[in-house]
Amino acid sequence: MTEAILLVGGKGTRLRPLTVNTPKPMVPAAGVPFLTHQLARAKAAGVEHIVLATSYLAEVFEPHFGDGSSLGLHLEYVTEDEPLGTGGAIRNVASRLHSGPDAPVLIFNGDILTGLDIAALVSTHRTSGADVSLHLTRVEDPRAFGLVPTDDTGRVTAFLEKPQTPEEIVTDQINAGAYVFRRSVIDTIPTGRPVSVERETFPDLLSSGAHLQGMVDSTYWLDLGTPQAFVRGSADLVQGRAPSPAVPGRCGDRLVMPGAAVAPDAKLTGGTVIGTDAVVGEGARIEGSTILAGAVVEAGAVITDSLVGAGARIGARTTLLGAVVGDGASVGPDNELNPGVRVWCDAVLPAASVRFSSDQ
Ligand code: GTP
Repeated sequence: MTEAILLVGGKGTRLRPLTVNTPKPMVPAAGVPFLTHQLARAKAAGVEHIVLATSYLAEVFEPHFGDGSSLGLHLEYVTEDEPLGTGGAIRNVASRLHSGPDAPVLIFNGDILTGLDIAALVSTHRTSGADVSLHLTRVEDPRAFGLVPTDDTGRVTAFLEKPQTPEEIVTDQINAGAYVFRRSVIDTIPTGRPVSVERETFPDLLSSGAHLQGMVDSTYWLDLGTPQAFVRGSADLVQGRAPSPAVPGRCGDRLVMPGAAVAPDAKLTGGTVIGTDAVVGEGARIEGSTILAGAVVEAGAVITDSLVGAGARIGARTTLLGAVVGDGASVGPDNELNPGVRVWCDAVLPAASVRFSSDQ
């Protein structure tokens, strides 16, 4: 049985303020901590033993998931004293693996939502005899990513940093954040210092002649590292566009968690999630958004493609478009928050204090 390592120790800076109180993999997507979806997909692919490599806010994982038995998994937790980076984190948990030196070990970034055929990645790894196999996905605009060109047999030929000029865009294939390592290769990663698997381990392996195999799988793939992507991923889970056995309830236009109170004339669409004990007032319209537990949306508020943190309050008639409101923040009535705005945890915006239009 293949075992897996899940990398869940990053600081999640791009997702702030959602990651001020909660590590990125524990931010709820479609009503449950995002990590639940990844664990459920790994389980469905036949993985039983998973080691979680934790660092930032490490203490919150085990109280929630315990030994994993409620998910049919055997979970272990290893916490770094100092963050060791992606490669260092993998090396740091190696002693917990049971696999023999030639056995394949799965490794997942803890912030990727994907329909990847995990079994196919393992079988590509076995048949190609590679040292490391990587899930690659194709993106329309590869400029923000490290590129991974392959030859006609799928063997990786280079790891290229973010391309700056059109000539440097030699492929649309990028590292999609899921790997299979031959167990013995993990033991070659240096110990006791931070190592980036993307920037150090992979290029070093390639230049030392190791066999790195790419597998392009172009099913659903989203890096949930930014607020906009996170909100979209959650909505895609609710609507059934992104596959997960862990969505609580049937897929559809909305997901209302137990204990939430939604006014009968409020409109919830586009994969909106209303968290446990949240309240949505009369005439509110919420589209493609995530409202976390205990938040309050007052009457007539209009919320689109936004995320409202736990216990936050959105005042009457306020509009949010592509906005993030941190846990416990209070946005007074008649505000207008436009794309990209991040309201910090516990901040207080008085009534009509932020407008983008000149109508008041
Ligand atoms: P940003 O700060 O927004 O870039 O997010 P991040 O900290 O999560 O970094 P990134 O998206 O590059 O990380 C990819 C994956 O590796 C995520 O699942 C992280 O949780 C994980 N990760 C990153 N750095 C570390 C680390 O030092 N230790 C451990 N255990 N995991 C890490």
